[in-house]
Amino acid sequence: MAKRHTILTGDRPTGPLHLGHYVGSLRARIELQDDHNVFVMIADTQALTDNAENPKKVHDNVTEVMMDYLAVGIDPKKTTIVLQSQIPELAELAMYYMNLVTVARLKRNPTVKEEIKQKGFEKSLPVGFFVYPVSQAADITAFGADLVPVGEDQLPMIEQTREIVDKFNKTYPPRRASVGTSKKVLVKPEAMIPETPRLPGIDGKAKMSKSLGNAIYLKDNSKDIEKKVMQMYTDPGHIHKEDPGEVKGNTVFAYLDVFDSDKEEVEKLKAHYKKGGLGDVELKKRLIGVLDEFLSPIRDKRKDYEKDPDKVMDILLEGTKKGREVASKTLSRVKEAMMLDY
Ligand code: TRP
Repeated sequence: MAKRHTILTGDRPTGPLHLGHYVGSLRARIELQDDHNVFVMIADTQALTDNAENPKKVHDNVTEVMMDYLAVGIDPKKTTIVLQSQIPELAELAMYYMNLVTVARLKRNPTVKEEIKQKGFEKSLPVGFFVYPVSQAADITAFGADLVPVGEDQLPMIEQTREIVDKFNKTYPPRRASVGTSKKVLVKPEAMIPETPRLPGIDGKAKMSKSLGNAIYLKDNSKDIEKKVMQMYTDPGHIHKEDPGEVKGNTVFAYLDVFDSDKEEVEKLKAHYKKGGLGDVELKKRLIGVLDEFLSPIRDKRKDYEKDPDKVMDILLEGTKKGREVASKTLSRVKEAMMLDY
């Protein structure tokens, strides 16, 4: 990617980050931050849309997520990390965008549909939750992001944002030469999907998630890792060590493929497993070592930050201040185009 992109991604602060987050998005952010203008948002306002009764959970996880970011290598000198609730311009933008989206269109959003089912919101759906795709469109456009690295489940959000941008730009062209009359007010973003396949949970389910209880966290200690890997789903047909085993769909191999740097050795292990004679415990021991080696520097760095949570919050508020300036400029242009610039 030769062009310097403006990139935004975000996470809802509802729990500590896990290896699924690492593979699905953190890794890409760390790579991109050297050459692009990267914003990362802790989406606490969005987290409240389905946690309205749990302000403490959201509040406490803001620091947790921030510590995970810093520990894993998101560098605040390169990446602007922002806290959604402290940028009121985002809420104002969302208010204007809501006029450009129909209820029918929101109801058709597959991610919203799925989440309504998952969260048991069929009978009583909070309006704030229902419109969160509009608020997410505000997040993305406020920073002028042209690229949004997300997992596949977020694709409908980007699609919805693109529609809002088109509608906005068509309805509200710039009115002043200062913006450049040929230029559109909002940037239309594109999604960027990571190349690596999604990391399964330790139970072999397609998605690693806190609510499924199948996650390995970035802050897990050696004991946690050992316990979780030992529980990991392998090949249910591989009962005796001598039996030939399945590599496909075997969670341990899925993890080794991602985290073991000795690819040649992994291929050898696969062949051995398929042939028979390689026990699950032996294989799992290798994975425990590999994961512990990967997580131990992250854990150490995190411990340093845990000693000074005030400093962690200062870094977040500093980034938020920078981010707010950008969002505020976008809002000015939006209001000008909407004839709200009194
Ligand atoms: N909805 C995203 C998730 O659940 C989090 C998020 C909030 C986000 N704002 C964003 C992602 C802006 C990308 C861009 O994972």
